Amino acid sequence: MAVKISPSVLTADFLELKKDIAKLESAGTDMLHLDVMDGIFVPNISFGVPIIKSIKNHTSIPLDVHLMIDRPDRYIKQFAEVSDILGFHCEAGSDVEKTLKMIKEFGCKACLTIKPCTPAEKIFDYLPLCDMVLVMSVEPGFGGQKFMPQALEKITALRNEIDRRGLKTDIEVDGGINAETAPLAVKAGANVLVAGSYVFSSDDMGKTVKEIKAL
Ligand code: DX5
Ligand code: ZN
Repeated sequence: MAVKISPSVLTADFLELKKDIAKLESAGTDMLHLDVMDGIFVPNISFGVPIIKSIKNHTSIPLDVHLMIDRPDRYIKQFAEVSDILGFHCEAGSDVEKTLKMIKEFGCKACLTIKPCTPAEKIFDYLPLCDMVLVMSVEPGFGGQKFMPQALEKITALRNEIDRRGLKTDIEVDGGINAETAPLAVKAGANVLVAGSYVFSSDDMGKTVKEIKAL
């Protein structure tokens, strides 16, 4: 299975973003990962719809929006308008099935996300409604943290269940991905890799993207 990369702009220099996104685009970046934080579901605040809208106007890379907000069902309409794939946490207090269906009704692909403390089995019932599932390999909230290897077992459990049911659901992994951890995640069954600080702190982002995709 081909591995896709979704660089997270969380630790980017936002005034350099237009130039950086152009570099990522020419390197064959599959998606751009945008982390939305509300200071309630996670202890950090990032950005919202206006920033994502500006990014959308300047790139053809599909936008992979990761909502880390409380009760995400309240904001699906606004975010669906600027996202290609829209994800939310099953722990965030919304009705999971209704929220997944709402995302699709607004014309977006849907992604369901689990925190490190949530077992993979918790989302098995929703897999047929998910275009992608996201396994967090750090506590959500900040870039630049260390990969938690406990995520690997969960990725494998999801991969086995998805394959057993003949589903096409992608498995994304997010947090601490670099040249050492990316192959472990892929071996466990992930096919979409989010990488934030590893890509944005490298001297040649395009080269880093190509290297990760080739792993
Ligand atoms: C953390 C975010 C991640 C983060 C990844 O809550 O969901 O997407 O930006 O950053 P790195 O790759 O630096 O761990
Ligand atoms: Zn993320």
